[in-house]
Amino acid sequence: MEIKTKLESLQNEVLNKVKSSADLKSLDQVRVAYLGKKGPITEVLRGMKDLDPSERPVVGSLANVVRDAIQEAIEERKMILETEAIHQALLEETIDVTLPGKQIAKGQSHVLTQIMEEIEDLFISMGYQVIEGPEVEEDNYNFERMNLPKNHPARDMQDTFYITDEVLLRTHTSPVQARTMDKHDFSKGPLKMVSPGKVYRRDSDDATHSHQFHQIEGLVVAEQVSMADLKGTLDLFAKKLFGKDREIRLRPSYFPFTEPSVEVDVSCFKCGGDGCNVCKHTGWIEILGGGMVHPNVLEMSGIDSSVYSGFAFGLGPERVAMLKYGIDDIRHFYQNDLRFLNQFKVKE
Ligand code: PHE
Repeated sequence: MEIKTKLESLQNEVLNKVKSSADLKSLDQVRVAYLGKKGPITEVLRGMKDLDPSERPVVGSLANVVRDAIQEAIEERKMILETEAIHQALLEETIDVTLPGKQIAKGQSHVLTQIMEEIEDLFISMGYQVIEGPEVEEDNYNFERMNLPKNHPARDMQDTFYITDEVLLRTHTSPVQARTMDKHDFSKGPLKMVSPGKVYRRDSDDATHSHQFHQIEGLVVAEQVSMADLKGTLDLFAKKLFGKDREIRLRPSYFPFTEPSVEVDVSCFKCGGDGCNVCKHTGWIEILGGGMVHPNVLEMSGIDSSVYSGFAFGLGPERVAMLKYGIDDIRHFYQNDLRFLNQFKVKE
């Protein structure tokens, strides 16, 4: 029976080809070639009509068996090849997690932020609160509540940017004094605060002046606060920022909102007081202004000046940083030049 042998050898032939198919593509080519409409199995089935009727069922069922066997072999091989393909892909896509990562350039806070935070931290350690006020301020808080009524000549020293007749860019952080005193409940203890922030003045910009700069205001109000408290506090501040051997000196000055008022000098940290170019050969460097809070300022906040007294001071972090690091031009702070900024890496 010729056709039977033909089918059997066909089966062996196909099974060998299936086994040797190295990838899914060539396997599919085998499937199409042998099981497709033009394939040899279909051909055998088609030729059945020429057979003796008694042979037809035998050949027919053999052809079905052969076809099923081929189909099964193809399915099996397909699964093996698919699994292999997945393994291969996984191998190729493996990430070596032990490779060193790319270094990301690390920034740091601005030198002024560093100085301001250092100063804030010092006062926080002495029990002060940090309170911020608005940069767009009312004339009332910026001047009137600071004992500078309209047309007061001392206003000229702080000429600024007006938004309306009554609203301006604050010229100093002192208005936060009034805002804070208005709200403070003295039955809960003394008022101790520092207030950092931006201030504005209609200055012509040069190496030491900028129309926008920073201040840190300090204010303590309680019973029996004296000038000695101010001096002791600022002495500590000078030693903390400029070195433990620093001394301070108070000189009489004038601010409308403090009485008496002082300018505070620190002994030169470069020459120790002998005289050099940093202290302009005087041995002293002026660092801030301060004084005892004027009774009018207390009374305008509803505080009884016969019971309470206080001290206040205002310092410029730009000036502190310029002195501390020998920076010769205030404009460096605002130009965002990395060659300048990268010199002030935060110590970790
Ligand atoms: N506000 C003053 C200024 O800007 C500084 C100062 C603050 C003086 C507090 C005395 C008390 O010049």
